[in-house]
Amino acid sequence: MSQIETVILKPDTNGIAEAALVFWRGGLVAFPTETVYGLGADARNDVAVAKIYAAKGRPSFNPLIVHLADVAAVHNYCEMSDVAQRLAAAFWPGAMTLVLPLLQDAGISKLVTAGLDTLAVRVPDHVVAQNLLAEFGGPVAAPSANPSGRISPTTAAHVIAGLSGKIDAIVDGGTCGVGVESTIVDCSGPVPCILRAGGIPTEALEACLGMALATPSDPTTPTSPGQLLSHYAPQGSVRLNARHFDAHETGLGFGAVDAQLNLSPSGDLVEAAANLFAMLHRLDAMGATAIAVSPIPDHGLGRAINDRLKRAAAPRD
Ligand code: TXA
Ligand code: MG
Repeated sequence: MSQIETVILKPDTNGIAEAALVFWRGGLVAFPTETVYGLGADARNDVAVAKIYAAKGRPSFNPLIVHLADVAAVHNYCEMSDVAQRLAAAFWPGAMTLVLPLLQDAGISKLVTAGLDTLAVRVPDHVVAQNLLAEFGGPVAAPSANPSGRISPTTAAHVIAGLSGKIDAIVDGGTCGVGVESTIVDCSGPVPCILRAGGIPTEALEACLGMALATPSDPTTPTSPGQLLSHYAPQGSVRLNARHFDAHETGLGFGAVDAQLNLSPSGDLVEAAANLFAMLHRLDAMGATAIAVSPIPDHGLGRAINDRLKRAAAPRD
């Protein structure tokens, strides 16, 4: 792929207008959401969407999430069951993606859905993403703005490190608050189920619906087409549930432990989620070859953190 100049845009009126123009011209813009930075393109434009796959080096069977400004816009593209509407009312805008039946003739590129008859959609809760979606006025396909298989970006600097020269622009909106990707709920079948743990805890979804939801238990069985086992991989090896750190290891702690980096010294899972990807990026920058991670409680945002850490620790090709 030939290199292009990547423009860094401010998150102000001019920057947002420039970013929307890039979408209209079929280009790629990375932008902040409350979860992680997304790499966006016009979801109706085949060539633009193909550029996302090329820039990320992403396998083409992996469908993308479409970002929309509000629930009203979602109705233009998808069928929404009662359950979907309840979840949307409770958690959008926010860190939840719904997989919904795609309407015929919705105009979404087949490269976005990878040929599926469902569409993953999300209304992000971030002022820059909201302003950009409003200015553009169309559906924006956006996976996380990292090379495929690598750590997701929570700052503009992470995006530039991974994709500079491959994308047209990035809107620098600072650090993402949530820090892990959205929770994906499949609402296309008779029973809703969770395809990916993420920024909205499972417990909150269950409380909203008044029912237990099936969750991904074993990372070796991909439930979502893009849930590859080895993912989020830092350069070094990763050892999980470490109750002590060996001399050759770089410790990534949680709670009151003595470690080079600590996701949350006070044991706060929300803080740990927000720090997770930035600290994995830092471990790369430090040249850590053997990373050992403290045990993380498996509830609330801990589930999303453990899901990402298992994939970071998985055997690689
Ligand atoms: O927080 C997030 O969700 C971020 C920000 C940018 O919004 N986006 C993100 O996108 O994480 P991505 O592409 O890295 O992950 C999308 C996941 C993949 O695992 C993909 O397989 C799944 O969503 N997915 C997309 N469409 C689907 C569908 N129709 N059915 C099932 N899974 C789907
Ligand atoms: Mg991703």
